[in-house]
Amino acid sequence: MKTWTVRAVQEVTYRVQETTDVFSPDNDALAAAAQFRPDAKRLVVIDAKVDELYGDVMRGYFRSRGVDAKVLAIAAEEPHKSSDSVFTIVRGADSLGISRRSDPIIAVGGGVLTDIVGLAANLYRRGTPFVRIPTTLVGLVDAAVGAKTAINFNKHKNRLGSYYPANHTLLDRTFLRTLPVRHIRNGLAEVIKIGAIKDAALFELVERGMDDLLGTNLTSPLWDAVIDRAVSGMLDELERNLWEHELCRVVDFGHTFSPRLEMLGEPTLLHGEAVAVDMAWSSALAFARDRLTAEELRRMLGVLAAAGLPLNHPYCTPSSLWAALDDTTKHRDGHQHLPIPAGLGNAVFVENLRFDELVRASEILEAFLRDGSFQ
Ligand SMILES: NC(=O)c1ccc[n+]([C@@H]2O[C@H](COP(=O)([O-])OP(=O)(O)OC[C@H]3O[C@@H](n4cnc5c(N)ncnc54)[C@H](O)[C@@H]3O)[C@@H](O)[C@H]2O)c1
Repeated sequence: MKTWTVRAVQEVTYRVQETTDVFSPDNDALAAAAQFRPDAKRLVVIDAKVDELYGDVMRGYFRSRGVDAKVLAIAAEEPHKSSDSVFTIVRGADSLGISRRSDPIIAVGGGVLTDIVGLAANLYRRGTPFVRIPTTLVGLVDAAVGAKTAINFNKHKNRLGSYYPANHTLLDRTFLRTLPVRHIRNGLAEVIKIGAIKDAALFELVERGMDDLLGTNLTSPLWDAVIDRAVSGMLDELERNLWEHELCRVVDFGHTFSPRLEMLGEPTLLHGEAVAVDMAWSSALAFARDRLTAEELRRMLGVLAAAGLPLNHPYCTPSSLWAALDDTTKHRDGHQHLPIPAGLGNAVFVENLRFDELVRASEILEAFLRDGSFQ
């Protein structure tokens, strides 16, 4: 009997580009990214809250460009990260009759919205191009720059999804002006993550500039530098392992225990907050393994606290985190691959974590929260 072996390589090129006032009629960035032609029609999927804030300006922009835009405003918070939302979008694509290659879907919103639209675009006709315009800090530095799409399923975080990058992502920080400060703090968790595991200079920028970062000037040079380093660091990690053939990923720092915690805690616990709690526990584990000094652990926990992020959560017990690790180990194909900081700005992987180490991490965090000690 004969055997056929097929081998193919999936190469991809996509662009992440900064712009300002993307819906200003004289800004050409979106027209170029979404390939506007005369009489173009475009499906625009926008977070309903973002639509309330920017919908009029956005519609004016499409009118000024002569684009027939069908705007689909959907609720896009974590509980809406579901198959229902995906089917709402593919129904919209179907009713507009968009072409398979030349009518990119435009996604405008936070990480939830861009994750959902990405999956819908990937499923529709087995792949329709899309363009992302993130409107949150999490979106700008993380969710909208990579290749992953997802919805939650069966109370599991991001259980259904794909690798399907947008052809083009436009980063426009002016959207952050209306973002509630809790969501700025939330996005800082992902920035701190990049600093802690691979960019000590970014870590220090955030640490020293925290008051300014949480102030009102979201277009300051400090923010320029922070976003530039965070996006560059993220893309540097993603580009060499975009399809995640390699499951040891330093950018998974903060993403080992947090998926389960986030699902247990939704809707009150935000993504970045769950990531922050995970980073605090993982850093305590690093201290217990002599990978962080007491001073480094103090700085790590200090920067999270200064950002207004939680260090612990009532759902976090050694047992619940052990269960979370068990599920994540399956996600990592039977390996813990648990990233912990090794000094600030570097990371190593743990493959043999024991339950008693979680007990010790719990004691370390409790002592720190009680009186700032580690005893
Ligand atoms: N695909 C990836 O690689 C990746 C990476 C990181 C996070 N994520 C996902 O991203 C999601 C979290 O994203 P998020 O933090 O952006 O949350 P989100 O999408 O829920 O948005 C946060 C809130 O801000 C509102 N909002 C959005 N833009 C606004 C603006 N400019 N002004 C005022 N309000 C605005 C939204 O309506 C929402 O209420 C999680 O589901 C997470 O799993 C995905």
